Amino acid sequence: MSQGIRVVLEEWKCLEEEYQHLQETHRMYSQKMDEVYKLQNNCNSSISKQRRRLKDMSHLMKKCSKGLSEEDAKTLDGINEKMKTRVNAFSEMEAFLPKKNGLYLSLVLGNVNVTLFSKQSKFAYKDDYETFKLCLTVLLLLFSFMCYFFVSYRFLDAILNFLLVFYYCTLTIRESILITNGSRIKGWWVFHHYISAFLSGVMLTWPDGNLYKTFRNQFLAYSLYQSFVQCLQCYYQSGCLYRLRALGERHNMDLTVEGFQSWMWKGLTFLLPFLFFGHFWQLFNGLSLFRMAQLPDCKEWQVLMCGLCFLILFMGNFFTTVAVVRHKVKNRKQKPKSL
Ligand code: COA
Repeated sequence: MSQGIRVVLEEWKCLEEEYQHLQETHRMYSQKMDEVYKLQNNCNSSISKQRRRLKDMSHLMKKCSKGLSEEDAKTLDGINEKMKTRVNAFSEMEAFLPKKNGLYLSLVLGNVNVTLFSKQSKFAYKDDYETFKLCLTVLLLLFSFMCYFFVSYRFLDAILNFLLVFYYCTLTIRESILITNGSRIKGWWVFHHYISAFLSGVMLTWPDGNLYKTFRNQFLAYSLYQSFVQCLQCYYQSGCLYRLRALGERHNMDLTVEGFQSWMWKGLTFLLPFLFFGHFWQLFNGLSLFRMAQLPDCKEWQVLMCGLCFLILFMGNFFTTVAVVRHKVKNRKQKPKSL
C-alpha cells in the first residue's frame, strides 16, 4: 500500500470515529427533544386542568361560604389566598411553554412556535428588536433628509414611503412576538404601527400633483423629525432594557429599583417635550389635510384619508403617553412608602 493511501485511510478512520460520536450525540439530542416536547405538553395540559379545577373550587367555596364558624372561615380565606398566588404561578410557568399564536401571527407566520424558552433569549430578542428599530430609523432619517433638502423626485418619495410601510409592518410582527413572550407593550402602540403602515401605504398611492406638492415638504419635515425622536426613544428604551438586564431578574429587582427609576425619570423628562411636540405636529398635519380636502380642486381621496390617520395617531399617541406618564408618576409616589 502506498504512503498516500495509508494517510487517506487513517484520515478516513479518524473521520468515521468522529462521525459515530456525532451520530450518538445527535441521537441523544433527538431523544431529549422528544422528552422536552412531551414535558411541555404535560405541563400545558396540567395547567389547563388545574385552572379548570380551581374555577370549580371557587364555585364550591362560594356555595359553602355562608354561616361558617370563625375557624372554617379562616381556613377558606387561607385557601383563597393560595389560589390567588397559583394564578400568577401558572402565568409565569406559561411564559416558558409553547402556546398557540394569536390571529395575526397565525395569519402571517402560520402555526410556528414563537415562544422563547429562557430569560436571556427573551432579552436578546428585545435587544434585537431595538437594534432593528434604530437601524431602520437612521436609514429613514437619512432618506427623508435627502428628499427634503436635496432631491425632489416622486419615485424617491415612493421609496421612502415603501420603507415606512416595510418598517411598520415588520414592527407589528416583531411586537406580536414580543407580546407572546411577555412584553407589556400597550395595545395602542401596536395599533399605532398598523395605522402608520396604512398611512404610509396611502401616501405611496397619492398621485403627483399640486396638492401632493403642497403637502410634500410638510410631510418630509415631519418624517425627519419623527425619525429623530424615534432615535431618542430607541436610546431611552435600550437604556431601560440594559438596566433591567443588569438588575437581573425583572420581577425581583426591588433592591435596585430606585437606581433604575431615577435613570428612567431623567430619560423620560428629556424625551417627553420632543414626544409631545411630535404629537402636535401630527394634529397640525391632520388639520392641514382636512383644510386641503375642502378645496374645490381636491379630487384625491388620499387627502381625507391621510388627515383622518394623522388625527387618530395624534389622539392615540397623546392620550396613551399622558396615561403612561400618569401611571408612572402614581407608581413613583407609592414606591417610597413600600420600600
Ligand atoms: N413602541 C413600542 N414599544 C413600546 C412603546 C412604543 N411606543 N412604548 C412602550 N413600549 C414598550 C416598552 O419597551 C416596554 O416593553 P417591555 O415590557 O418588553 O419591556 C413596555 O412597552 C412597557 O413600557 P412602559 O413602561 O409603559 O413605557 P416606557 O418607559 O418603555 O416608555 C414612553 C414610555 C412614553 C417613552 C413610550 O411609551 C413612548 O415613547 N411613547 C411615545 C411614542 C410616540 O408617541 N411616538 C410618536 C413620536 S412623534
